[in-house]
Amino acid sequence: MTTISPALDLACRSALGARTELIREVQNGLQSRPRSLKPWMLYDELGSRLFEQITALSEYYPTRTERSLLERRTDAIVASACADSQPLRVVELGAGTASKTCLLLAAAVRKRIEVIYMPLDVSADALEIACRGIESAFPEVLLEPVVVNYVDSPPKLEDFDGSTLALYLGSSIGNFMPQESRTILRNIGSQLRNGDALVLGTDLVKEESILIAAYDDNEGVTAAFNLNVLNRLNNELGADFDPTGFRHRARWNPVASRIEMHLECVRDQYVEIASAELELHFREGETIHTENSYKFTDNTLDALLSDSGLKIESTWKDERSWYAVTLSRRLDEDQCDRK
Ligand code: AVI
Repeated sequence: MTTISPALDLACRSALGARTELIREVQNGLQSRPRSLKPWMLYDELGSRLFEQITALSEYYPTRTERSLLERRTDAIVASACADSQPLRVVELGAGTASKTCLLLAAAVRKRIEVIYMPLDVSADALEIACRGIESAFPEVLLEPVVVNYVDSPPKLEDFDGSTLALYLGSSIGNFMPQESRTILRNIGSQLRNGDALVLGTDLVKEESILIAAYDDNEGVTAAFNLNVLNRLNNELGADFDPTGFRHRARWNPVASRIEMHLECVRDQYVEIASAELELHFREGETIHTENSYKFTDNTLDALLSDSGLKIESTWKDERSWYAVTLSRRLDEDQCDRK
């Protein structure tokens, strides 16, 4: 039986800190020009549900493309990650509900090796859902969930008598600025030892119309996801945003190689955010930048990993080269030591 109450306890203690951070980021972002909000603010309870809906949209190809790549490669990935009969520790960054991880765990369990699954996420709720699902599907897998903000607090992995397979899936790395991405990958990379591996999912550059459709779908689910951040500020900070006063915009920025999500103000308006002690004037046409989603080429992906101290060993792409799953190792493997 697995218990994750320490994780939940930690989550309760960090709830106050999370609110303080939300207020601080809202004050910084909405008073600067251009105005912006942090992408993590999109994921309150409703936002997380809307994101789940996005992953099933016909226009949103990344989730199903990554899943089918993993389905075809799980045995190869697990074989590259661990020698026969050695225990395997699977460490997943931003695990969320870990729906695709099951594919890899199933492959490891098929090899009859001892498996420890260590999902890392800021959301204790997501970890609980992930652990419950994995516990019932794979009772033999040992669970060690950790509630952590892996961006600000680099994970410190304890010594382990076996191999470690780090996973960072879903192209989540694309939601960070290049400098932050390098820091995240360097932090996890520095915890890997000889023979350990990182499996990373990344979305690739493609025709603009396909990218725009993926972030501005016909049903308006992505629009609802983006606009929901205003409801979140209303609910959690006593703001009086009228979400109908803003419209969802998805733009391709070819220079930065990223999709940008914005909320465009459709009329002149004043907004009060009580808990942040703000009264703001929004002009018609003004935007709030809410998210970036970086898209990579072979070269930029290679550079991202090598700048982070990692070297790509295998790359798997779909037939259209829309998405890549890579397996990398630490560059200086011979000198690996986990400090
Ligand atoms: C979570 N992340 C990888 C998604 C993406 O594609 O950048 C978030 C998203 N935003 C709008 N649609 C999906």
